[in-house]
Amino acid sequence: MKLWTGRFKKQLDEAADAYNSSISFDSRMYREDIRGSMAHAAMLAAQGIISEEDRDAIINGLDGILSEIESGALEIDMSAEDIHTFIEAELTDRIGAAGKRLHTARSRNDQVALDIRLWLRNAVDGIVTRVEGLMKVLCDKAEQHAATVMPGYTHMQRAQPITFGHHLMAYANMLERDRERLLDARKRMNRSPIGCCALAGTTYPTDRAAEAKALGFDDICHNSLDGVSDRDFCIELAAALSILMTHLSRFSEEIILWCSWEFKFVELSDAFSTGSSIMPQKKNPDIAELTRGKAGRVFGDTMTLLTVLKGLPLAYNKDMQEDKEAIFDAVDTVTMCLDAFTPMIDTMTALPDNMRKAAAGGFINATDCADWLTSKGIPFRDAYKATGELVARCIELGTTLEALPIEEYRAICEDFDEGVYDAIALDRCVAMRKSAGGPAPENTVAEVARIRAILA
Ligand code: ARG
Repeated sequence: MKLWTGRFKKQLDEAADAYNSSISFDSRMYREDIRGSMAHAAMLAAQGIISEEDRDAIINGLDGILSEIESGALEIDMSAEDIHTFIEAELTDRIGAAGKRLHTARSRNDQVALDIRLWLRNAVDGIVTRVEGLMKVLCDKAEQHAATVMPGYTHMQRAQPITFGHHLMAYANMLERDRERLLDARKRMNRSPIGCCALAGTTYPTDRAAEAKALGFDDICHNSLDGVSDRDFCIELAAALSILMTHLSRFSEEIILWCSWEFKFVELSDAFSTGSSIMPQKKNPDIAELTRGKAGRVFGDTMTLLTVLKGLPLAYNKDMQEDKEAIFDAVDTVTMCLDAFTPMIDTMTALPDNMRKAAAGGFINATDCADWLTSKGIPFRDAYKATGELVARCIELGTTLEALPIEEYRAICEDFDEGVYDAIALDRCVAMRKSAGGPAPENTVAEVARIRAILA
């Protein structure tokens, strides 16, 4: 049964019908559709547009439909055009004429805009909770490893000593901004389009503000054309999710590297690793790889939304039905990803000995050596050059700055004395990096406290 009978003499062609239908993907908004309709009926009655008896019949009828869908007693008819059509038809079947009054002062255009906002608002809350869960896990791990020395890299070359805790907290900082972006998107999304009707409002004496308030919105959409025809809130959310996935993807890339025999900085739990069908020795970081891969998928969803919207004249166009699969996919993908990623990090074991071995190998204390010489009054550029020569000498002798005899130091610069060995000891190099935001263990402990305060 179509909602738009009357004008038409022919049935919709079968292929056209299948093409036009959205119920296969919008049926998941049944709760939001019913909740919106209940609020609409209440508003219509409060304004004297429908009777109180009709309102009660509608709300009771919808309540029955909701609990029957939830219990599985009522199956959603996948041959209906969309979820709005299905629920209205089902209601009218059950309560007769009152059901036909529900759609007074409303159109599917504002109805669908309302349903998506309600659905996404809830979805954002779910994702924010998951992001917070990952932030919490990072804080716990960083606290344990606030003094675990590892090499920091630039250009994938060992650069300067940092700690594993400091490295993890870099991601906690990224997630802090992701969380803010999501909450920000939620704020702009939280305006009610219901009552914009098809595109031009209505002549009925509706109370849009009351209906918005009943549905938990902060405000109404103030222009009826805009309310039914923009999906910028979908794009904004997809963009925030894309940035989040960029962060998770970079993190995944590092985990994949760290799991390799070349690094072996971490070991993933068997519960979050997979094997090979042919190579018995293999233990693969599939969850991290999939996260890196699925980032591309979420970026694609964002591009879909931008492209669908960019050429549309105001107000509603059927193209906009394409918004849902893209934004649902982005939400589903990120949700699934965080549900696997967070416990993977939580159960991951750090291997501090290997981190330290790598940190000891790459002359990552060379800057500290030059800084020590500078503290003796040598200009930094000269200290830099002398240290460079020391590194070259170490490479020649196959040794490290720590093991190089003091005579070798003094041969390059007379100002060196035994004090340099203290200055280039890795733990001290890290402990001395107390500048704000630096890797000194006390900074990491304070950062963990700052992030935990946000989560509290
Ligand atoms: N299924 C449609 C959508 O998702 C609902 C709105 C239909 N409105 C219309 N005038 N055809 O966009």
